[in-house]
Amino acid sequence: MIMTIVMIDNHNREINYLRISITDRCNLRCVYCMPKEGVSFIGHEDILSYEEMLRIVKVAVKTGIVKVRVTGGEPLVRRGVTDFLTSLTKVVGLRDISLTTNGILLEDYAEEIFNAGIRRINVSLDSLSADRYRDITRGGDINRVIRGIRKAHDTGFSPIKINVVAIKGFNDDEIIDLAKLTIEKPYQIRFIEFMPVGESTLENSLGYLSNDEVIKNINSFSPLEPVIPTRRDKADGPASLYTLNGAKGEIGFISAISHEFCNSCNRLRLTADGHLRACLLSDEPTTDLKTPLRDGCSNSELEILIRDLISRKPGSYQTGCQQIHRRKCATNMSSIGG
Ligand code: 5AD
Ligand code: SF4
Repeated sequence: MIMTIVMIDNHNREINYLRISITDRCNLRCVYCMPKEGVSFIGHEDILSYEEMLRIVKVAVKTGIVKVRVTGGEPLVRRGVTDFLTSLTKVVGLRDISLTTNGILLEDYAEEIFNAGIRRINVSLDSLSADRYRDITRGGDINRVIRGIRKAHDTGFSPIKINVVAIKGFNDDEIIDLAKLTIEKPYQIRFIEFMPVGESTLENSLGYLSNDEVIKNINSFSPLEPVIPTRRDKADGPASLYTLNGAKGEIGFISAISHEFCNSCNRLRLTADGHLRACLLSDEPTTDLKTPLRDGCSNSELEILIRDLISRKPGSYQTGCQQIHRRKCATNMSSIGG
């Protein structure tokens, strides 16, 4: 029996979701995520071991965490990931464990991940054109991702969500084709607005595309019908959901920039080097858990650190940082995990 005292933060949000970046390494170099030169990877000794991550998760459960998502970089490039997932699914008190992957290794790992007990999976795919996919990922092979998604479907994963970062001048002419995928397939296609996180910038020819424009575009093809959320779905995340008439799948919009959803943000993020972040878009506040962990702190001390961070979670990323500068997040997306 675990003693759980659910944390409501100072902005009346129940914090119940932890995203864990298990590595900042990636087998792709998406232009909006990493600079061309790549990023300096965290040294091996600075990466939390799986045991350390599991200990943090078990303590976080006592503060009310019930959902965990494993992310990267690319989580499937870290050795031992499926054993870690198996251990995670055994943590008492968690009721929802999911994985975000770029799909490159998904065909190889789908069965192992499924056997580890994971059912919910998100795959990133920004274009349906092999050439464009290669360009945006700086070398990725779209066929591997497509085979990976198919394998995930055949293996029985549900839901399968496909993340699309919508970018003007890159994939704005593919919005309708991407949306149409949901007619035949039970996938949830999610359009994500580009976020200025870390060193990620869009090259000159590319631009931010607001989801209002994406919605307008899809509506010009066929009217989007809102999915009425059930109570459980409402706690599910920031995506607003729609369907096309008769479609098997759904279309989601994650509009962090045009329609700030901080007031319903229920998440914390653990970086691969052991820092707990209260906000994706602001580097403040962040708590180093690795140092106390390695200095031999007790579980109660760890719990106090987590509760303290939750109590300092900003009400909005606009106010999250004391200094007034536009970019409040200098940490790269690849080390936060989206
Ligand atoms: N803005 C928006 N989404 C991003 N992702 C990575 N970098 C950015 C960014 N700067 C997305 C990836 C992945 C998810 C975890 O985050 O495409 O689908
Ligand atoms: Fe890798 Fe994901 Fe970043 Fe692309 S967005 S470089 S797949 S971590």
